[in-house]
Amino acid sequence: MNLLVTGGAGFIGSNFVHHWRGAHPGDRVVVLDALTYAGNRSSLPRDDDHFLFVHGDIRDAELVSKLLRENPISVLAHFAAESHVDRSIHSPETFLDTNVTGTLRLLEAARGYVASGGAPADFRFHHVSTDEVYGSLGPEDPAFEEATPYAPNSPYAASKAASDHLVRAWHHTYGLPVTVTNCSNNYGPFHFPEKLIPLMLVNILHARSLPVYGDGMNVRDWLYVTDHCRGIELAIRKGTPGEVYNIGGNNERPNIEIIRTLCSLIVEEFASDPELAARFPDCPAAKGSDPLTLVTHVTDRPGHDRRYAINAEKAKRELGYEPQESLASGLKKTVRWYLENEPWWKAVMDGSYQDWISSNYGEAR
Ligand code: NAD
Ligand code: DAU
Repeated sequence: MNLLVTGGAGFIGSNFVHHWRGAHPGDRVVVLDALTYAGNRSSLPRDDDHFLFVHGDIRDAELVSKLLRENPISVLAHFAAESHVDRSIHSPETFLDTNVTGTLRLLEAARGYVASGGAPADFRFHHVSTDEVYGSLGPEDPAFEEATPYAPNSPYAASKAASDHLVRAWHHTYGLPVTVTNCSNNYGPFHFPEKLIPLMLVNILHARSLPVYGDGMNVRDWLYVTDHCRGIELAIRKGTPGEVYNIGGNNERPNIEIIRTLCSLIVEEFASDPELAARFPDCPAAKGSDPLTLVTHVTDRPGHDRRYAINAEKAKRELGYEPQESLASGLKKTVRWYLENEPWWKAVMDGSYQDWISSNYGEAR
């Protein structure tokens, strides 16, 4: 089988490529990625008989049609997006361009491919979306279900909601065989250090302040990225065209608790490996002090959603999906990965990364 993975050089896309190649070594994976600041060629394998990287934009309809036709593609797995809520608050237009227009162009290319008769009979367009389209929950509200009304609150969430509606409409109107997964917060390897968990890890190691938005009691439902990739694979293989599946981790935690856990894990790692203190001499753990002292409460994110939680019962019932990683084991693996892959995160923290950190958090950091 040939897959086209958009956004495959990003965090979840690259983990999905590694996961799929491990599970289906005979398949061929083509990645289409524009390599924005969030995309890294080094997160992916080298080109070979089973893997091809194409540097290009999902809005380039001609290129997408050519890739679908020439390979020929059975599954288009659509991950490409502008994905960072804070950046969407600073520059919303890019989010509309990529997330809405980009998805539209892919849908149109896929429709043309199917209509031409060149697509395999079991062709599938799988759209990767987010729980943020459902809005924000109160402390006692039930978790998001697939039928929960859409109420996106940030420019990012609004652009993802619009893209979900397009995917739904292309199925309803044109019969395009689509599936959609809406997932909670992922964490794990290859996560760009602008999002909460990798940002905190890198800052702890360098003794930089840990910027907590508001009171730190916003709740997210954390999912180890490989579990998300398994959920997407199940939706592609077993999902019914036209259906939506929520994927979650059953791990609701306030941000401050996640940060506390990361600090403790770093202290444990430094205690068991004396070389870490030599590699990261500024880290409080290298000097026997608690990295939690680095926490700084900063101005809250505008419109900050208070709580997300996913009800993944439908995916469990219909696809056999269940997360395998606990939060404790997933966070431990993640901490180890960042300690063992310093060259990866050092390389992505270039000049444009520093500019973003300054503009979002102020020059002081
Ligand atoms: P990411 O920002 O790490 O990666 C996005 C990738 O898309 C990058 O490689 C980037 O270069 C590429 N890209 C951006 N614009 C492009 C364009 N116009 N053409 C081609 N490629 C382009 O994002 P992520 O965290 O891996 O998220 C992947 C998908 O999963 C997104 O659709 C996101 O909305 C969704 N999602 C993310 C999470 C999460 O916790 N990160 C949770 C649920 C859903
Ligand atoms: O819920 C799924 C979504 O999760 C995905 O659709 C998005 O693509 C992904 O970026 C993520 O969005 P969040 O806004 O929840 O993730 P982020 O890592 O940016 O923030 C997680 C929480 O931590 C959130 O409540 C804001 C808070 N935060 C974040 C940063 C970067 C801080 O307190 N300080 C920070 O410096």
